[in-house]
Amino acid sequence: MDSRPPLRIGDCAPDFGARSTAGDIKLSQFRGKWLVFFSHPADFTPVCTTEFVALAQAAGRFAALGCALLGLSVDSLFSHLAWIRAIREVFGVTIGFPVIEDPSMAVGRAFGMIDERAGDSAAIRSTYFIDPEGVIRAITTYPHNVGRSVEEMLRMVAALQCAAGDTVLTPEGWQPGEPVLLPPARAAGDADAADWFCRRVAAP
Ligand code: BEZ
Repeated sequence: MDSRPPLRIGDCAPDFGARSTAGDIKLSQFRGKWLVFFSHPADFTPVCTTEFVALAQAAGRFAALGCALLGLSVDSLFSHLAWIRAIREVFGVTIGFPVIEDPSMAVGRAFGMIDERAGDSAAIRSTYFIDPEGVIRAITTYPHNVGRSVEEMLRMVAALQCAAGDTVLTPEGWQPGEPVLLPPARAAGDADAADWFCRRVAAP
């Protein structure tokens, strides 16, 4: 059992070095970019494969947001490479983002990506959205049997970028280009308007 307190929004993502499908990697080398760092339970599994295919197909859209992708599972580098080759053969899709091996679970444990109560060592579907300064801005956790939405990951990155600095807030279901909300302290200056607490303004 890991006694470290769980990572939270606002924490600096702990740096680490690991072997990946793109060579040796340090988390800190992604500074200066947004990063979606995600774990998956296991290679060669159905839901994870759909996530990988969708992430690879959306790689250009993440790049357009200045956002890199980084995967992790407890599987070995050789397993990752074999799975990536199989995905290319079956789906014609190239996984262009690095995938870290974490057989010791050192990284997964540091990021709370391992379900310590599970009977096996599989990582859960954790996703960390890390800003260019290395600060964790959002965390999501999904179970092994429900796949994540890559559209929602893209939306999350765009919303975090839009709302960075807290001058504006993004409403439910916000999409890039849509109006945003003012923080309560700023909106209260317009308290005579009936809709002062929920007025939408153009995105900066
Ligand atoms: C899947 O990705 O399909 C999966 C992962 C872990 C356990 C079962 C299924």
